[in-house]
Amino acid sequence: MTREKILAALTEPDASALFAEADRVRHESVGDAVHLRGLVEFSNICTRRCTYCGMRAPNATLPRYRMTREEILACARLAAELKFGTLVLQSGEDPTLEAQWVADLIRAVKNETPLAVTLSLGEHPQAHYALWRAAGADRYLLRFETSDLQLFHRIHPGSPQGKEHPRIAHLHTLRAQGYEIGSGVMTGIPGQSLHALADDLLLFKALDLDMVGIGPYIPDPGTPLAQAAPLAENQAPPTAQTALRAIALTRLLLPRANIPSTTALSTLDPARGRRLGLTCGANILMPNLTPKHYRDRYTIYPGKICIKAPEADDLAALYRLFEDLRRHPGAGPGGRTPA
Ligand code: 5AD
Repeated sequence: MTREKILAALTEPDASALFAEADRVRHESVGDAVHLRGLVEFSNICTRRCTYCGMRAPNATLPRYRMTREEILACARLAAELKFGTLVLQSGEDPTLEAQWVADLIRAVKNETPLAVTLSLGEHPQAHYALWRAAGADRYLLRFETSDLQLFHRIHPGSPQGKEHPRIAHLHTLRAQGYEIGSGVMTGIPGQSLHALADDLLLFKALDLDMVGIGPYIPDPGTPLAQAAPLAENQAPPTAQTALRAIALTRLLLPRANIPSTTALSTLDPARGRRLGLTCGANILMPNLTPKHYRDRYTIYPGKICIKAPEADDLAALYRLFEDLRRHPGAGPGGRTPA
């Protein structure tokens, strides 16, 4: 698909043909299973100052937490009991997080459960990625957020400057170490043009990503980006529509990739977001297993709604949705579908 075709699909008034095609390709390439990944947001400690994120280090009003190994293992057991295939361990970027502690945790999850383990811990030294891979981690998520290097640096103050995109370099390292790699972007970041978004989608393809997470940017009033935000010429709109179109186009570009219907999408459109994602190309959901008393403190953006597992109401609604869509929960770890 050319950049022109992508741009046309992002701006075409009626996206119904695009969504139908993405749904067809999803059905043919990865089938009707929806894989469930149990998400554990185990620490909101973060030293970064990303201008869009409510958990940025300068936010001194946010009480910080790190779950204990036992608390995290309890979540892992729960994920296995609920027949989820994967545990996603996510945290802020915390250089004081001991690499060996994380490795021991991964080993314990792998010993005690049949779960695949996905890490989403931000940028770390190569040696740590290697240690975690050796401990049994299967996948790593690191969104590059935008392929526009200038915009990337504007929203990530303090990131290492250079010709290459810092996170792309990390993704190459992770792939070389044998991880399945996931990346993705926010759609509608102030300063992101539709052209830049088209380039993001082409980069997913060039990187041959195994997983792609795409969600709409949601302004957090306490962050710099929500205060002073110069818009791009041809600004990508911060709507659910833009995110859905990007998801659909990603399915066409990478037919066998794992693509979640994201929490941010459901936050913008609580009534329909989850369903819309699943019918526009997505095949993954990430129910939140973080214990209730920590969940409110993992505030990457305001109003974050999620599938609360193990709350029976939420899971029952989820299974009703599957039935409605003639989909079914995936069995097994749900890695990338082989060619
Ligand atoms: N709106 C939407 N998504 C956000 N993220 C962080 N802050 C926001 C926001 N304000 C996303 C980023 C990050 C992921 C964990 O959450 O893309 O990679």
